[in-house]
Amino acid sequence: MAERLSHAGGSPKPVAPSKPDVIVVGGGIIGLSTAWQLQRDGAEVVVLDPAPGTGASHAAAGMLAPIHEAYWGESHILRLNLAASRKWPAFADALGVDAVDYRRNGMLMAAYDADDKALLDNLGDLHEREGLPVERLRNRECRIREPLLAPGVRGGVHSPLDHQVNPRRVVAELLNRVPTILVSATEVADNQVVADDGRVMSCRQVVVAAGAWTGRLLGLPIRPIKGQILRLSGPEGLLQLPVRGVVRGSSVYAVPRSDGEIVVGATQEEQGFDTRVTAGGVYELLRDVLALLPGLSEINLVETWAGLRPGTPDNAPIIGTGDDGIVYAAGHYRNGILTAPITAAAVAALIQGHEPPVDLSPFRPNRFAAPFGHRDPIDGISGQLSEVSA
Ligand code: FAD
Ligand code: GLY
Repeated sequence: MAERLSHAGGSPKPVAPSKPDVIVVGGGIIGLSTAWQLQRDGAEVVVLDPAPGTGASHAAAGMLAPIHEAYWGESHILRLNLAASRKWPAFADALGVDAVDYRRNGMLMAAYDADDKALLDNLGDLHEREGLPVERLRNRECRIREPLLAPGVRGGVHSPLDHQVNPRRVVAELLNRVPTILVSATEVADNQVVADDGRVMSCRQVVVAAGAWTGRLLGLPIRPIKGQILRLSGPEGLLQLPVRGVVRGSSVYAVPRSDGEIVVGATQEEQGFDTRVTAGGVYELLRDVLALLPGLSEINLVETWAGLRPGTPDNAPIIGTGDDGIVYAAGHYRNGILTAPITAAAVAALIQGHEPPVDLSPFRPNRFAAPFGHRDPIDGISGQLSEVSA
């Protein structure tokens, strides 16, 4: 078994236990964080994944943004995201704040034209109703916070609670700590997994964290939502803050890393498991980000990529024990980087028989069994923003 362990760093390889307490299927940020939490709590754990860290977690921008990802009709998701945000400082500390490039510099949301400003004002009403700590800014105030913004921006919202991290570095750090076997699960039960090499592995508890592929493996309504995303490279500090813009009705964001990389994303497309980068996708992202931040036109485009967000019918993740006894941690859609530490803590608590750190009832796996009961009718701006971001 040892020859098939994956390893991402120079420290000693984590060794897979021969009799694991827990098998985690899926080595994206959710599966790896969960495995690490269980391991830190004393369990023998192994992660199964033929290509760990190459799914949505590799694509993600790394915004830890409960406020800028808040939408009408999704209060339960907002509460989870706020609780997740509070978990991040300790999680980043344990991995190494610099190693994962965790930065708490707030985020700016900016409106390009008058219609975009109306959309932002509507979101501002939501922020107010939820009592979120944001500052509404006029044009000049936006440009004082972020001088790279186009002179014409109509206004914005600054949120000091929204932070950022480099998800690729988080995954690399987790892979250094958690044993991983490079196989795919083909059959899963609550205490047994059959792998694509014919191996049958037993344990006390199986956790499924297979991202957008969870629906293929087991019959949950999780579907892939494609996101094309770009990486630019420029001088360090060129862009000071992560900026999310609404540009002629479309949503675009630019997230600066401390080494000068700027991540620009992302489309939102219903294209099944297709991860091809398209000319149209790249064009739309560049068109919108350069309208908002014209100075970025001078720097290099170094990567184009596409990943698959694991989407659910109500946009909320699936966290909990299913009627089949399997523990699920999947469907984290746009916020899986943000919610990795709280998901890990919640799953560990469930397995250990403790009280989870948040109310998991809105996220229970069997909520889709009945006709869709939990759908808040007030979904206006959420729908508008997510549909126009493609
Ligand atoms: P994944 O990272 O996709 O991992 C799933 C893993 O399961 C994969 O490694 C796969 O190989 C494995 N797997 C699949 N089937 C099997 C099997 N049968 N057996 C074993 N293993 C299997 N979130 C944020 O919080 N902030 C952001 O800024 C952000 N930006 C994003 C930008 C883009 C363009 C995209 C696409 C997503 C973004 N997200 C963001 C969302 C976030 O990336 C996801 O919610 C998160 O990565 C989901 O993690 P995961 O571990 O569930 O899935
Ligand atoms: N949360 C950013 C994205 O999903 O694109």
